[in-house]
Amino acid sequence: MAPRLVSGGEEIPRRPLGSTGVEVSVLGFGTAPIGLSNYQLPGYDQRANERLSLDAVAAAIDRGINFFDTAPAYANKVPTNGWSTDRASERMLGLALEGRPRDRLFIATKNMFDRMDAPGIRASLEESLRLLKTDYVDLFRVHGIIAKPFRADNWREFVNDDVLATFEALKDEGKIRFIGISGYREEALCAAIESGHFQVVMPQFNYFHRNAELELVHLAKRRGVAVAPMRPLTGGLMKALIEEIDPEGTLTADPYRVAMQYILGFDSVATIPVGMRTVAEVEHNVQLVCELEGRRRAA
Ligand SMILES: NC(=O)c1ccc[n+]([C@@H]2O[C@H](COP(=O)([O-])OP(=O)(O)OC[C@H]3O[C@@H](n4cnc5c(N)ncnc54)[C@H](OP(=O)(O)O)[C@@H]3O)[C@@H](O)[C@H]2O)c1
Repeated sequence: MAPRLVSGGEEIPRRPLGSTGVEVSVLGFGTAPIGLSNYQLPGYDQRANERLSLDAVAAAIDRGINFFDTAPAYANKVPTNGWSTDRASERMLGLALEGRPRDRLFIATKNMFDRMDAPGIRASLEESLRLLKTDYVDLFRVHGIIAKPFRADNWREFVNDDVLATFEALKDEGKIRFIGISGYREEALCAAIESGHFQVVMPQFNYFHRNAELELVHLAKRRGVAVAPMRPLTGGLMKALIEEIDPEGTLTADPYRVAMQYILGFDSVATIPVGMRTVAEVEHNVQLVCELEGRRRAA
């Protein structure tokens, strides 16, 4: 994969994605904020900001970010139809990635979690492929959400043999390259890592949520499984704390730098898909990640 340069001539760092043989940009792009109205920002209108969102994704690609994290659920709910959504983040990503060299992008999506059976999983992926304007996704993950907080002792009821066989079949058919899982209980994700079915796991792991540092990241490293944490910059908690303690905006230190330094300190963390809405956020985070990863490698 050809190295790509950020504006200052600096190469955006990459890390191996576990033992997949693929390298991904240490800074990834999390698309929940550009797919959902009101996501961590009350009053944010997803539709009204689509132009800014497309510009942010374009800037990310131009800066060498290659890991894009999306999901059918990062979208506005269609109120009268159960869990259905308008799939805005996949649609936005499809528009933004159009015309870009597909083999230089790593697209990660998830299944729509309301139908955890073979036809439901397949239908979800087909819709993702249509919206993302591609014939394969690099990473397809079981979407573990708050409504289904599977544990170590029941995760195989949720992710049963039929689900696993469907994901494996999609891999054999060339529609997905790698299989992953996201979830909120570290011990359940550890069991998933031990099962050998997954190449990437997505725990909630950040400066405030540190349980994954006890066992998960070490187990993942031993098993060659990549960690791509959800909410790597605390998912809005940092912002809430800053607003509480410094409403006038007088802080001279950058708390996001501290949060980023923490999460990048773990080897098995391959990429941090940070939720970003604007070009300015992309530029700022690229700068931070280049500086922090550069220091880490020099140490
Ligand atoms: N169950 C799951 O699988 C699951 C669940 C949650 C998230 N995820 C994935 O993880 C991704 C990341 O999580 P997230 O988006 O919730 O949170 P995050 O990446 O931890 O943090 C995003 C927040 O940080 C702010 N931010 C980012 N860069 C900043 C900067 N340079 N300076 C100041 N503020 C900055 C954003 O601000 P603004 O709001 O002002 O833009 C936003 O509030 C999601 O986008 C999604 O792809 C997966």
